[in-house]
Amino acid sequence: MNLYPVIKPLLFQLQPEQAHGATVAALRLAGCSRLTCWCLQRCFAPRVVPRPVHAFGLTFPNAIGLAAGYDKNAEVVPGLAGLGFGHIEVGTVTPLAQPGNPQPRLFRLVEDRAVINRMGFNNPGGALVAENLVRMKRGRVVIGVNIGKNKLTPNERAAEDYVTLVRQMAPLADYLVINVSSPNTPGLRALQSETVLREILIAAVAERNDRAHDLQKMLPILVKLSPDMPAEGLAGALQAAVDGKVDGVIVTNTTLAREGITSRYQEESGGLSGAPLRERSLAVLKEAVTILNGELPVVASGGVMTAEDARARLDAGAVLVQLYTGLVFLGPGLVRECVERTAREDLY
Ligand SMILES: Cc1cc2nc3c(=O)[nH]c(=O)nc-3n(C[C@H](O)[C@H](O)[C@H](O)COP(=O)(O)O)c2cc1C
Repeated sequence: MNLYPVIKPLLFQLQPEQAHGATVAALRLAGCSRLTCWCLQRCFAPRVVPRPVHAFGLTFPNAIGLAAGYDKNAEVVPGLAGLGFGHIEVGTVTPLAQPGNPQPRLFRLVEDRAVINRMGFNNPGGALVAENLVRMKRGRVVIGVNIGKNKLTPNERAAEDYVTLVRQMAPLADYLVINVSSPNTPGLRALQSETVLREILIAAVAERNDRAHDLQKMLPILVKLSPDMPAEGLAGALQAAVDGKVDGVIVTNTTLAREGITSRYQEESGGLSGAPLRERSLAVLKEAVTILNGELPVVASGGVMTAEDARARLDAGAVLVQLYTGLVFLGPGLVRECVERTAREDLY
């Protein structure tokens, strides 16, 4: 039974960050016993048998994942898994705890079915997130850890932050994502320039390779890119991903563009996600798939608000699809619809 039409008006009465906290609290409760997890799974189970996806050497129970930023601290993975996600990307985590930007920093653009956030990597730091990951009960869901640099780390030393987090998270994650594309850490997106990015990725992959023997696994490393780069910038960043020998690319993060936005919050600074990002993100996905020409798998993120959007991304060449803002406006029923729409026989 889908209760979200009843719950949504209540959540939308709250400030967006409070509403987020309320859903996290509910998922924490739901995820803490076997019985409640089972009930969630029963409620949100797809009505078709989902097709597993094999990518980067991992097996994903289905093609749909939760994008980074919802469960920044890795606190509610079992509850989220109960909603039917095949993978959950926690984080962004930075080496040291940081408070993020002052509130308010999250805005709901109801008319536009969009969100603007300028959270600024608020998180309790790598050590605490690692503790949460150690304690967590793991099921079949694939867990990615999205890693970033601390605000106070100068860009010249950014690679050290990423390497520290690769070392710390490698035993605990199924895959890692190097995030160089959030618009809310000053200067972060400059790390997407080809030469700088290549250096960071080479350092991160070298650290991963050094640890591969001890860990007895080859941990896939992905890089997440912005939708706001000009064509040459995207091509350069993708070349860095190939040269750095990462295992995949995620396109895209949120956008700084505000085209077509009508909400009174349009002047707020931060990254825009949801419906207005749909076309831009799909265009970048298509471009990335064309440029990479099979050299690296591509994960789609951005503007997935319907099952049709998810399907369009697989049709455009994505191996996996992530969503976040769609969950705010449509609730967890969207996950099931996307899983069902991407499990169709004729896709495989
Ligand atoms: C509130 C909020 C916080 C986010 N935080 C992060 C983050 O910490 N790291 C990251 O890589 N992406 C973050 N994102 C971006 C999402 O992971 C996703 O790439 C983006 O929202 C586009 O997908 P969507 O349109 O389905 O939301 C955040 C998005 C939102 C709405």
